[in-house]
Amino acid sequence: MEDKRYSAAALTLGFCLFVVAARSAFGDVSYSFPEEMKRGSVIGNVAKDLGLDVNRLSARKARIDTEGNRKRYCDINVNTGELTVAERIDREEICSDAVSCVLHCELVLEGPLVLHRITLNIDDVNDNFPSFQRDVIKIELSESVVKGTRFRLDEAHDADIGINTVQNYHLQRNEYFIVSVHSNTDGGVYCELVLDKELDREQQQELTLTLTAVDGGTPPRSGTVVIHVTVLDANDNAPVFSQSVYKVSLPENSPLNTVVLTVSATDADEGANGEITYDFSRISDKARSIFSLDHKTGRVKIIKSLDYEEDSKFEIRIQAMDSFGLKSDTKLSVSVTDVNDNAPVIIMKSIHSPIPEDALIGAEVGIINVQDRDSEKNGQVHCSVQQSVPFKLVPSIKNYYSLVTTGELDRELVSDYNITITASDEGSPPLSSSKTLHLSVADVNDNPPVFEEQSYSAHVKENNKAGSSVCRVAARDPDWRQNGTVVYSLSPSDVSGAPVSSFVSINGDTGVLHAVRSFDYEQLKSFKVLVLARDNGSPPLSSNVSVSVWIGDENDNSPQILYPSPEGHSFMTEMVPKAAQSGSLVSKVIAVDADSGQNAWLSYHMVKATEPGLFTIGEHSGEIRTQRDISESDHMKQNLVLSVRDNGQPSLSVTCTVYLLISDNLAELPELKDMSYEESSSKLTFYLIIALVSVSTFFLTFIIIVLAVRFCHRRKSRLLFDGAVAIPSAYLPPNYAEVEGAGTLRSSYNYDAYLTTGSRTSDFKFITSYSDRTLPADPTLKKTHASVEDLEGFDGAGNDSQFAGVHGFTTLFIPPCLLPLIYPFIQIINEVIPEKE
Ligand SMILES: *[C@@H]1O[C@H](CO)[C@@H](O)[C@H](O)[C@H]1NC(C)=O
Ligand SMILES: *[C@@H]1O[C@H](CO)[C@@H](O)[C@H](O)[C@H]1NC(C)=O
Ligand SMILES: *[C@@H]1O[C@H](CO)[C@@H](O)[C@H](O)[C@H]1NC(C)=O
Repeated sequence: MEDKRYSAAALTLGFCLFVVAARSAFGDVSYSFPEEMKRGSVIGNVAKDLGLDVNRLSARKARIDTEGNRKRYCDINVNTGELTVAERIDREEICSDAVSCVLHCELVLEGPLVLHRITLNIDDVNDNFPSFQRDVIKIELSESVVKGTRFRLDEAHDADIGINTVQNYHLQRNEYFIVSVHSNTDGGVYCELVLDKELDREQQQELTLTLTAVDGGTPPRSGTVVIHVTVLDANDNAPVFSQSVYKVSLPENSPLNTVVLTVSATDADEGANGEITYDFSRISDKARSIFSLDHKTGRVKIIKSLDYEEDSKFEIRIQAMDSFGLKSDTKLSVSVTDVNDNAPVIIMKSIHSPIPEDALIGAEVGIINVQDRDSEKNGQVHCSVQQSVPFKLVPSIKNYYSLVTTGELDRELVSDYNITITASDEGSPPLSSSKTLHLSVADVNDNPPVFEEQSYSAHVKENNKAGSSVCRVAARDPDWRQNGTVVYSLSPSDVSGAPVSSFVSINGDTGVLHAVRSFDYEQLKSFKVLVLARDNGSPPLSSNVSVSVWIGDENDNSPQILYPSPEGHSFMTEMVPKAAQSGSLVSKVIAVDADSGQNAWLSYHMVKATEPGLFTIGEHSGEIRTQRDISESDHMKQNLVLSVRDNGQPSLSVTCTVYLLISDNLAELPELKDMSYEESSSKLTFYLIIALVSVSTFFLTFIIIVLAVRFCHRRKSRLLFDGAVAIPSAYLPPNYAEVEGAGTLRSSYNYDAYLTTGSRTSDFKFITSYSDRTLPADPTLKKTHASVEDLEGFDGAGNDSQFAGVHGFTTLFIPPCLLPLIYPFIQIINEVIPEKE
């Protein structure tokens, strides 16, 4: 029964630069099936017939679309691919009396968009009974009517078509009449009542007969009408229409009550016999609801608005009947013409919103279907996007359009679009409609955080509190939500050997850097930290910035006096020759300050002096000079209380005392002798004397000579004493580090001064050579021989240094010729008396 035609699908693939894929596939399939199938009945398996993959139907959003937005009579089962009946399909209602009844629908698949046309041929089923216009046909006949006279009877109407329509008439068996069945030119079957035996009004005045109309279906269906015959005396002419066919054409927008036309029939008879009434003899239900016929005048009017899109043609039969029941009929053919009365309709078939901002150019955003129910030019639709948005419509199959992007999207610039699509047809005047669709753009993590500054530098005072904030870095990320949420962290690195995290920490949310410890400018002046800013997207994007932290100096170190020893217990006493002239250099106070800049800018002041006005100190040089010539009246012992101040705010200071002796000969001062006898060497010497005396008297004389020689030697050195300054190495502060840069006193000056002034040494000092051994192993410490030479002019004693690393016993000035003799004793003594440490 099912006649399937399957036309092979033709696939055309077009490719152009901006259209990712333009696809059009046509596959037509057609089914024939009877009307009035139950809802849900299977018409056929479209998927199989079109060779589609049943499993992908639902994914591709398979659906049935009807043309022109009409009722959808069938549906597709996406699970099986079967086309099923969705609505009652009444062939008579859909196609009225058209010979073939065809429905069109489309199977739409997306991704890629494919359209299959499905043609449904609805077969007629004999579901309508033949029926007559009236229940009773009244005929009045003159008894004079001759045998064989024919009377046309109302045609029975059967909504079915072909063989299912009326095929035959049967008349109830009777004496007088038989029926004669005829075919109309337009396929209808009508009958005439034929008088078979003359009537006799006196015998039978009335007759009631039943006429049965039978159709040709299996099983056949029938309808009956009662014919009531009244026997009269006279006979008449039947009415005659002026035209056998009336044709009229109407625009679909004709207003109600428009007169379509007036049919007219004439009857040759006079008077009451010529009175004609008009009636529809054969008319579809739909036409009956649209047209009205004035029974008297034959005027046909419109009583319901026409719609070309629903019915474009009507065929109606009209009969005229005179008062004797003589009839004739005519055909009225009404064709409806199209008017551009339907604006295009834009239907959003699918839309991918939000669309990711990294969508490629030409990516399909949505599918749009445009429909215009009008025909021909009135239904030709053009569709476009009006605004300047990066979208355009690409015509796809038939009246489908793809909305594609024409440029790159950037959510950070435009996060949503209102796209107005305008469709207009080609009618005159054209009708148009528009639809706005809202499209939002979804975020993609395409922006790394960006720091507000190229680099940061922070200045922190030393001695800051641990936990205090150092500076704040800020990075912006314009992405959405977590894609734009910035988290800060420190890039692991080392700052002078320690991990950077032991210096600063960062608040991941606020970007505030905190000091983890208190900084010490004297140890660390600056360091760099690399801060990372990362967003929370996946994958995350990050950037980094370097933060230089400069530690500022605070005046937290008081000046340190290197010479003279600040403790004051030192016997450091300067000799001033009595003959010293005004302005001659007596001594020099040497001080350093671990701070830098102003904080290390030292100034020297005299606080107290035994003889005010005798000595002055250079405010910046620290040099103590005589202010006037020394006179005999000046006291021999002079004490100066000096203070050294730095320039910090507040300034720090230390004081020291310098003892000066105005003398040319140390021997003049017995009390000073005691002062100078000190240290282990003298003690050792004492022990040695005792030891030697007690061990052997044999060498007693030797020892006495040795002591005598030594005494002479010391005298000699005292005579050589010229007041130059000696500074032992032990006065250098431990770990004293040179301050780079901004010191006002050149550090090398400090050290060098110390070294050179010690060149004319006295005999008892433990003087160590000017070498790295005596200085802290600080790499920043710098010393140059050039500086040493610079200072030669300062005290005139920068030449051959006698700095020999001589220790203990050997310090004694013993003539070398005697050494072999006393050496064994020295060894014994060294074993007996542990070296003083
Ligand atoms: C789109 O239209 C909506 C509502 O009409 C409006 O709130 C929104 O601001 C519009 N957006 C743009 C980008 O014009
Ligand atoms: C962040 O970006 C990713 C892609 O990079 C995207 O999948 C995700 O939806 C975005 N998150 C938000 C909140 O927009
Ligand atoms: C810091 O950023 C630069 C480029 O901006 C990159 O080459 C480098 O690898 C980054 N450093 C770290 C530690 O992430």
